[in-house]
Amino acid sequence: MTDKQVLVTGACGEIGQALVQELAKRGGYRIVTADFMPLPDSIKGLAAEHVQGDLVYKIKTFYDYDFDIIFHLAASLSSKAEIATEEAHRINVEGTMQLLMLAAYRSEKYGKAVKFIFPSSIAAYGMPNLETKRAAGVVKEEDWNTPHTMYGCNKLYCEKLGMYYGQYYGQKHLDEKPPVMLDFRAIRFPGLISAFTLPSGGTSDYGPEMLHAAAQGKDYACFVRPDTKISFMAMPDAIKSMLMLMDAPRESLTSSVYNVAAFAITADEFRERAVNAFANANITYDPNPRRQGIVDSWPEDVDDARARSDWKWLPDYDVDRFFEEYFLPEIRKRYGK
Ligand code: SER
Repeated sequence: MTDKQVLVTGACGEIGQALVQELAKRGGYRIVTADFMPLPDSIKGLAAEHVQGDLVYKIKTFYDYDFDIIFHLAASLSSKAEIATEEAHRINVEGTMQLLMLAAYRSEKYGKAVKFIFPSSIAAYGMPNLETKRAAGVVKEEDWNTPHTMYGCNKLYCEKLGMYYGQYYGQKHLDEKPPVMLDFRAIRFPGLISAFTLPSGGTSDYGPEMLHAAAQGKDYACFVRPDTKISFMAMPDAIKSMLMLMDAPRESLTSSVYNVAAFAITADEFRERAVNAFANANITYDPNPRRQGIVDSWPEDVDDARARSDWKWLPDYDVDRFFEEYFLPEIRKRYGK
């Protein structure tokens, strides 16, 4: 069987590196990567080809490729996007739009639905205040689709664009033979934590930053209050969820957008675990009002019943297993503590 042709944009980011490694481990894929940056050592040699540069300008290059699957991970995350809103819109929306158009074109022209896997986010939600957030608790995909950030607006809109190109583009009349459309599938991720890489530009970054700092014996001033609560997930579970969604038969999917959840904890619960694991940890709090406001608008937890039922999603790591079986052993190896 010939290898499946896969494009991974944003390959140098946290999800990108972990995904490329997992696809290479699985085998059966010809991986083409794209990013602003050259490939880091962690994935150099795993990609058949790397296209470096701005996706919006490089898109023409990709019209010559016969991709079966596109993982469009390139994005400007929530904190960074608030500082440079127009640039974030260009990266997050225009980049996605260009790739969706390419996938739609190829799907129709060659009669083969290109799978388009899109990481969306808990940032697609927006709660008006803490009282509402606490009262809401666990939210479903359709609840509170009123994002407060540029990044959240971009993600929510790109979910809609994906559905548009996947279902309605061309507006064929019911009597006409329907064209082959691209196969758009989105996952709304919670905050992700890797033991190998650190995020940059996000607002859930206090979780991973705190843990990596503690493991290195570095001081860390957390930019949100101790009681701040959102949902988090181990990076291997994030990769697992994307591959499960990729593999799910189209007939089993009742939606184009799925929440996935693993564990919802407060910043102080992170701190407690970090302090227990690393004697030299020194974690204090210095809340940044703007970043606090962003996290306060995100739900405490998300309901992933739809993913569990449609494609049998189940995370491997709850909070205990995350620390004991993934993060601590890996991070101790990494920093030698
Ligand atoms: N982790 C992302 C951020 O903080 C949310 O998807 O921006």
